[in-house]
Order: sequence, then C-alpha cells, then structure tokens
Amino acid sequence: MFKIVKKKILNPQVKLMEISAPHVAKKAEPGQFIILRVNENGERIPLTIADFDRTKGTVTIIFQEVGKTTKALGALEEGDELLDFVGPLGKASHFENVKKAAVIGGGLGTAIAYPQAKKLHSMGVEVHSIAGFRNKDLIILEDEMKAVSDKLFITTDDGSNGNKGFVSDVLKNLIEEGNKYDLVIAIGPLIMMKVISNLTKPYGIKTIVSMNPVMIDGTGMCGGCRVTVGGETKFACVDGPDFDGHQVDFDEAMRRQTMYKKEETLSMENIIA
Ligand code: FES
Repeated sequence: MFKIVKKKILNPQVKLMEISAPHVAKKAEPGQFIILRVNENGERIPLTIADFDRTKGTVTIIFQEVGKTTKALGALEEGDELLDFVGPLGKASHFENVKKAAVIGGGLGTAIAYPQAKKLHSMGVEVHSIAGFRNKDLIILEDEMKAVSDKLFITTDDGSNGNKGFVSDVLKNLIEEGNKYDLVIAIGPLIMMKVISNLTKPYGIKTIVSMNPVMIDGTGMCGGCRVTVGGETKFACVDGPDFDGHQVDFDEAMRRQTMYKKEETLSMENIIA
C-alpha cells in the first residue's frame, strides 16, 4: 500500500499529493509517469510524475478531478493509502547541448512542465517559462516555476491576472525579440501543443511535446495509447510520452481523444447517481 503523506489543494479543480513510494522515487526522472489504482474495484490511471524526493522516498502527483477515478482519488486524505502505484514508466526526458530553453505549460500541463524546467535549471540551462491558464483562479505552481526559471511569464485567457493572451503569443514575441532557443518544451492541451509546434517549425527550434492519450496497461501491450509520429505508430507509454512536436499527428490524436466521451460520461453519471 502507498500512503498519502501530503495533500494540497492547488485550485478548485486541481490537487497535489505526495505519495510514499520509495522504489519509484529512487528511479524517477522528469518525463516519466506512474499508473495508480485507488482500490480493488478502481480503474488504472496514468499520472505524470510532477516531482520526487529520493531522500524522503516520495513522489508528487498533481491531478484534476475530471472523471470517476480522479474524483475518488481527490476524496482521499493524508494518511489514506492507494492500492497500486506502479512506476516509473515511460522514457525519461534527455537534454543534451541545451543552453537556452523555453518551457511552456498550458493549464494542468504546467504540473508536467515544472519537473522539466527544474531539471534544465539544475543543468545550468537558461530557462524561460511560460504558463497559461483560463483565469487567475486556476493558476498553479507560480512560486515553484519562478524558482527554476530565469524568466517566468503567466498569461490568462480572460486577462484576470493582468496579462491577457495565449502562451503561443508570448513565445512568438520572445523569438521575434531575438531569443535563440535550442529547445522548446510544450505540455498542455493537444491544440496548444500543435500551435506551439507549428510556430517553432519554421525557426527550426527542436520542440518536445508530452502526449497523454488513453492508457490501459502502460507497458506497450494493449495499443490503447498509440500515436502517429513521423508517419509511424508509436506507443506513448513505452516510446514516449515525450515526442518530437514537429512529427506528431495532432489531428489524429485529437480525434482519438474524443472516442470514449460517451463511456466517460456514463461512468461519471454512475458515481453521481
Ligand atoms: Fe497499452 Fe500503451 S497503454 S500500449
């Protein structure tokens, strides 16, 4: 069993939990994920590792209560335990020859972008972070991102934090101002990652995105997490979740994302009823 040692509400929809999982913490790297099960009857859900502490033996997860399992998870308190917590899964992010990077998070994607920014910052890379949210009440990890960034820009769709706009606008301005990035990391909604990848392509800036499709086994067996990258079928759980944004077929990924909407709605109705 895996104990919840800390629970924090980051915004009305998003919660952070630190889970005691020493074996996972020992090997975890940015870019990897875990699969958890709340209880015996629960489904398995993948969540990206938002942080880890090898000394304390804890792994941090950040999640939005969007479905049956994330709601059940969010209802647990410090001291409660999870049945399964398997990982680290997926390929760790590798950064080589990077001097200056832009790390971009869209909404909850900021929780996944944060460990990447932290790692780059620890390697001495100049990090410009850009995080976008729908409104100021949904902003998460501002202090954490600030601590690992040389510059941090936070935008809101409605301008309620005084900085209206999209993350892609900020990146475009930074590039046009003459910032020479060796690497752009974009993590968030598919449409955001597509827009950023299209923006960086003409400049030839290497762009990594993190794909988050439906996952079942997380070990490359079921094929549920397939994405097309460079015309080839890849499995996000074993080949990713990080991929070259210039090679990903985002339109197909967006179509696949809506495939199980009916079942997801039914499942939610069953727990509310
Ligand atoms: Fe089954 Fe990736 S989750 S192959």
